[in-house]
Amino acid sequence: MHKFPSSVALTSALKPERPVIGVRPHAAGRAARWFLANFPGDVAYAYKANSSVFLLGSLYGAGIRHFDVASLAEIEDAATIPGARMHFMHPVKSREAIRRAYSEFGIRSFSLDTEDELRKIQEETGNARDLALFVRIAVPAKNSRMPLERKFGIAGAKAARLLVKTRQVAKELGLCFHVGSQTTSPEAYVNALREAGKLIAKAGVVLDRLDVGGGFPSVYDEHRPAPLADFMAAIRATVEEMPIGNHCRLMCEPGRALVAEAESLIVRVTARRGHELFINDGSYGSLFDAAHMGFNFPVRMVGQTDGEALVPFAFWGPTCDSIDHMKGPFMLPGRIREGDYIEIGNTGAYGRSIAGGFNGYGVFEEAILTDEPMLSMYAPQPGAAETQGAEQAQA
Ligand SMILES: Cc1ncc(COP(=O)(O)O)c(C=O)c1O
Repeated sequence: MHKFPSSVALTSALKPERPVIGVRPHAAGRAARWFLANFPGDVAYAYKANSSVFLLGSLYGAGIRHFDVASLAEIEDAATIPGARMHFMHPVKSREAIRRAYSEFGIRSFSLDTEDELRKIQEETGNARDLALFVRIAVPAKNSRMPLERKFGIAGAKAARLLVKTRQVAKELGLCFHVGSQTTSPEAYVNALREAGKLIAKAGVVLDRLDVGGGFPSVYDEHRPAPLADFMAAIRATVEEMPIGNHCRLMCEPGRALVAEAESLIVRVTARRGHELFINDGSYGSLFDAAHMGFNFPVRMVGQTDGEALVPFAFWGPTCDSIDHMKGPFMLPGRIREGDYIEIGNTGAYGRSIAGGFNGYGVFEEAILTDEPMLSMYAPQPGAAETQGAEQAQA
């Protein structure tokens, strides 16, 4: 794969007609090293966020061995990673998926949020006694861009009952939750852990595994999330208050926080109409979050100079569909015109993994970029060593 020191070098060499995913494997490696050094337990990468081999290689090289998988296809893919420890953390699985996960792929870790799912897991694993079973509880989403609690999770007396039933058949009883993706303040984890503590006490069960899920933030616009170190400190402190023993092993499942800043998307302007730019990727491609979740990805015109005056633009994607629209505002130089390239930063999480091929689009070039991400939760200050980058994330 081509390697370039910047998006400027990339576009002048390739003059790409198609959108280009600029991969920064070093950024994924740095994020993974930070999590491994600072999270007090296992770090399971949420495979769904991005399964590019360049990023997976970098995460693996940094020491990631645990993977949160959500489907048979992801399992088949992740099974090629040497020594991968997979956790099947989708609370609703088909019988075939459970059966094959257990017998073919050696998966022993499953999540569930109903008694029906517990029964399915027991039946499809032949009443296995070697399972780590995580009861997923519903927790309120606080400062999250993508709440998940309406879809999954069990609460109250039902949750306590399910914890007891699961304890009776599990080798290791776990509890898990997801505070919602792109959660920007640590209180969400504090609230969720307190809720978990109440349920454990109510059920009167000994817990072996506690999984705080994903949801850790990346950075997209000028509203910077709290530093990741604050999340770690809040998790450590709240876990100390919980009715669990020292043997209880912690896990987290970050997706976005490990890979978002490890890719940029380089698009070309196909047309300009006033303050609206037609670009060659969009909501049916890797910009779903910009269109449907209102993510304001960082942007720069390739070749933009420092200090240049910027004006707001909205984007139209390449398909015929009028919902293929990203309202932004995306701040770019007023001189931008047809044929110019734009680097859209921090698209590494749920960008290419969501992209489809509607209208014949959704085909990308790929190249490695060796420069820094446009925005970073981990980047070192200029001139500082990388370990100081971790300190900056803690500051
Ligand atoms: C079970 C589970 N774990 C982890 C993740 C990763 O979340 P994030 O990318 O917000 O860290 C998700 C995302 O949907 C999920 O459903």
